[in-house]
Amino acid sequence: MVDAGALPLSTAEVAQLRSNTPGADNVVHLNHAGSSLPTQATLDTQIHHLQREAMMGGYEAADEAADRSDQVYASIGSLIGADHNEIARFEQATAAWNAGFWSIPMKRGQRIITANAAYGANAVAFLRAVERRGVTIDVVGDDDSGHVDVDELARRVDSDVALIALTHVPTNGGLVNPAAAVGKIANNASIPYLLDACQSVGHLHLDVDEIGCDLLSGTGRKYLRGPRGTGFLYASEQMIERLIPDHPDHHGADWTTLTDYELKPSARRFESWEFSHGGWLGLGNAVDEALAIGTDRIEATIYERADSLRKRLRAAGFTVWDLGARPCGIVTATGNGLDPSAAKTALQARNINISVTTPASTRFDATNRDLRDMMRISVHYTTTEAEIRHAVAALTEL
Ligand SMILES: Cc1ncc(COP(=O)(O)O)c(C=O)c1O
Repeated sequence: MVDAGALPLSTAEVAQLRSNTPGADNVVHLNHAGSSLPTQATLDTQIHHLQREAMMGGYEAADEAADRSDQVYASIGSLIGADHNEIARFEQATAAWNAGFWSIPMKRGQRIITANAAYGANAVAFLRAVERRGVTIDVVGDDDSGHVDVDELARRVDSDVALIALTHVPTNGGLVNPAAAVGKIANNASIPYLLDACQSVGHLHLDVDEIGCDLLSGTGRKYLRGPRGTGFLYASEQMIERLIPDHPDHHGADWTTLTDYELKPSARRFESWEFSHGGWLGLGNAVDEALAIGTDRIEATIYERADSLRKRLRAAGFTVWDLGARPCGIVTATGNGLDPSAAKTALQARNINISVTTPASTRFDATNRDLRDMMRISVHYTTTEAEIRHAVAALTEL
């Protein structure tokens, strides 16, 4: 359970954490939902491993780092309340999500229940499953505050539902979907539940037991501040024997006889043999740093910054589009005649990073709300009030 009284990081703590982040004073980075800035230690972890690979050979460097590499599973497990055996490494959240998604048995005529916040890649996979498996997609609408309507979702559950697939925090804003309430419905009906936590891991305090998900996907480069090209899948121990990966290799499975193979009894069945060892070790370092700070304090700090940013944007005449009772650190805005892409380019010329979210990344929501391109300004615990003031002032001048 997140500690509701968790204190945001103090100014001195943020200053200390920024001093370990080489990019922090180099750029006003407000694109943590795209890819965050790593610490020097995370960078060093990767560089050190790359150097060992270059000096002694990649396989030999992997052997040397084997214990540390194993420890990364335990670190990610601690982060989300899982066992190390329930974690599989991936090179991105989408690959992790797809591995989980395609391992769920689905029969022709069954439904996949999802919500408006569904991420583009996931929606494309749903459409592919419509073609390949003959399932249908059932998109549950929003409640008055913009969360997935949990009561409506409960009403749609019956014996023909193959999967509930929810995006926790969407790519296009600060909505935090009620993942645990959906988990209760899924668990009561014994329906597999896949949570896309790509934008929430490292951002919000997560506990897979509280959420009740069977599968959860995450990425390294965003709020975890890990390297690009890293991610992970959580697959619950209770479910694992029923989850058959679509394309296991001889790492995820043992090739036991000429005609047979045996899947690993853990989440490792989803992995492939080759990966970026330096990236994985760097991710481990980033996760350990998040654990040392405390995910509840990270969450509290991000909320504080995001509240401030939204207030300043509104005061400067912008429209803020984020849904939900208490939106998190991803802030979307338009207004004052600014074209979002032009604004992004102009801000970059002033050394301020933001991004632009387009309807194609979240078509259910974009269609439902008739959204156009929006500026996406995402804060982290390293973001300072001065940076927020500076960015809003720059937007106002534009
Ligand atoms: C909600 C959500 N899910 C999944 C992804 C995909 O993550 P990755 O690029 O690591 O595959 C993103 C990326 O923006 C996202 O916002």
